[in-house]
Amino acid sequence: MKVLIVGSGGREHAIAVSVKKSPKVDKIYCAPGNAGIGQIAECVPIGAMEFDALVRFAKEKEIDLVIVGMDDPLVGGLVDELNAAGIRAFGPKKNAAILEGSKAFSKELMKKYNIPTAGYETFDSADAALKYLETATFPLVLKADGLALGKGVLICKTISEARNGVKSIMVDKLFGHSGDRLVIEEFMTGREVSVLSFTDGKSIKIMTSAQDHKRAGDNDTGLNTGGMGTFSPSPFYTDEVDDFCKKNIYQATVDAMASEGREFKGVIFFGLMLTKDGPKVLEYNCRFGDPEAQVVLPRMKNDIIDVMEACIDGTLDKIDLQFEDNAAVCVVLASDGYPVQYEKGLPIKGLENFDNKEGYFCFHAGTLKNEKGIVTNGGRVLGITALGKDLKAARANAYEATEWVEFDNKYMRHDIGKAIDEA
Ligand code: AMP
Ligand code: GLY
Repeated sequence: MKVLIVGSGGREHAIAVSVKKSPKVDKIYCAPGNAGIGQIAECVPIGAMEFDALVRFAKEKEIDLVIVGMDDPLVGGLVDELNAAGIRAFGPKKNAAILEGSKAFSKELMKKYNIPTAGYETFDSADAALKYLETATFPLVLKADGLALGKGVLICKTISEARNGVKSIMVDKLFGHSGDRLVIEEFMTGREVSVLSFTDGKSIKIMTSAQDHKRAGDNDTGLNTGGMGTFSPSPFYTDEVDDFCKKNIYQATVDAMASEGREFKGVIFFGLMLTKDGPKVLEYNCRFGDPEAQVVLPRMKNDIIDVMEACIDGTLDKIDLQFEDNAAVCVVLASDGYPVQYEKGLPIKGLENFDNKEGYFCFHAGTLKNEKGIVTNGGRVLGITALGKDLKAARANAYEATEWVEFDNKYMRHDIGKAIDEA
């Protein structure tokens, strides 16, 4: 089989490593990819939003399966265009990817189908939103309706913060058209858990749980980022939580989408908050999480191609999805200054230390190969993942391995997985 992966981050590198393990696959392409993906796949310089070029490339190379890793092309309808050209693709079509593409849509869906989530109101004008704030209780949460690189959520403690937030999202259009509509949501407290799943539109299979660390600084301080590290499984995802979510959230979401005529095939990412009133959905994503994929996929026992094909063919009920009885921790190595301003083009040394080291992975995110060798090319540079017999062992291994690579301005959080000690 020939496989094309669309995307360029640590998630796509983790997907590529899993695809590479499949005996069915002879050749992997990645568009556009990065320096790490380039070691196991042929990277082609086509951007993830260049739909015509991607379709043309997939036809020309007779690609058997396209795996779309990123949210933007999924929400934009890349899978529809590939299918229209007769190419098999893994990921939801546009009318299903709206589950992530519009927060107003996902909130309405949850309300209509009684899926537990925070209370909310949706607004189409800044005036109406500002008026609502007059009688609201704080803190509350403002969410731009559309995609905003994970930055469209503002937690506001006071009315003046909220007024400024409404203005920047709806008037100044900080996130462009994503801010044409606004969801104002009740503030919830509790532990967060990420649960990834495969679905074929009818049945759903849950992967092992994970937890992300979104803030840039230790002890959850600083700005929100795309994710600074993850661990899997989450010790807070107990059997009781699993039972509740199986009864009230997972299948209910798949069925709700089907009832709406929006059959969802692909990965649904459930961002959950474990509140004192039980688990509630914070958000849905229509793809693997990044860096969640970097701790979940290395623990998966199945051939990822079998699972993805079953999602496309509607035969997922025949798959016995299995994970290793171990743990994984991923520590992101970023360029100091991320997520605001940081240097690019800094040479990375020591990558070869990961060669043939079983249980250790150096997933590339923002890297590029040029005449200087492999250099930094983004805010999040590498995801260092290690396996271990349990979470503590995996964490010790991952932090040890963060020392194997060096680049100027290397920055990481030192408390990834600290929550494990409280479990
Ligand atoms: P989202 O992109 O919706 O996952 O939001 C990003 C982050 O904002 C989440 O991971 C939570 O930490 C936080 N968040 C979102 N919605 C809420 C809420 N209703 N209450 C408290 N925190 C929230
Ligand atoms: N790590 C969160 C996300 O992928 O959206």
